[in-house]
Amino acid sequence: MAHLLHLDSSADPERSRSRSITRAFADAWIAAAPGNTVTHRDLHRDPLPHIPDAALHWPARLRPPGAVPPADAEALQESLIAELVSADAVVVGAPMYNYSLPSSLKAWVDYIHVPGVTAPFDVDSQPLAGRPAVIVTARGASYDPGSPTDGWDHTVPPLQLILGTSLGMEVTVVATSLTLADSVAALAAELPRSQAELETALAEAAELGARLGA
Ligand SMILES: Cc1cc2nc3c(=O)[nH]c(=O)nc-3n(C[C@H](O)[C@H](O)[C@H](O)COP(=O)(O)O)c2cc1C
Repeated sequence: MAHLLHLDSSADPERSRSRSITRAFADAWIAAAPGNTVTHRDLHRDPLPHIPDAALHWPARLRPPGAVPPADAEALQESLIAELVSADAVVVGAPMYNYSLPSSLKAWVDYIHVPGVTAPFDVDSQPLAGRPAVIVTARGASYDPGSPTDGWDHTVPPLQLILGTSLGMEVTVVATSLTLADSVAALAAELPRSQAELETALAEAAELGARLGA
């Protein structure tokens, strides 16, 4: 019996690839063992406010003297951290927007990454250490090693840093690219690769969900 936190952030409710791949993972997680559960947080449909006060990056003991962040924002932060820490695994839908994360997902990161609480700082606090995190990314174009766009992906690396390096989670990346091949004429020749990558990513997500949820 294991619990999954399932995050989506695509602004495309109809055709999103990241949403279909995170759903394949969550469906397999539910089927993997009796009693498995999922909390689905849709960061696009129900967006979080940006953090209203920089003091929220720190627990109260590490804040500058006199810093008093709004109580409602602090309560929201506590509930988001509790939601994350109660999960045995997390799957994160992370489409590439302007070479980076959707701002809806970045807002969530800004609430949950708190040195000294979810990441080591003055104390060795890393409550999610060793738990699985699956990052599902979808990119309109391609970012192949050695290609002219190699290194332009600033979507996955910050999530690997936060979830993996800071929070200590075991990160796996499921990626699909050239998602715009069916709508951008200049990419039409890449449609077979685009479709093959989607099928591979769906199968990989289902396998991961079944294995990690068992
Ligand atoms: C606001 C916005 C910005 C985008 N920026 C990029 C980009 O910088 N590079 C890229 O390859 N694709 C870009 N795309 C295309 C998306 O990465 C692509 O459509 C992807 O499939 C989105 O994920 P989804 O299918 O889960 O919605 C952008 C799309 C949107 C809506």
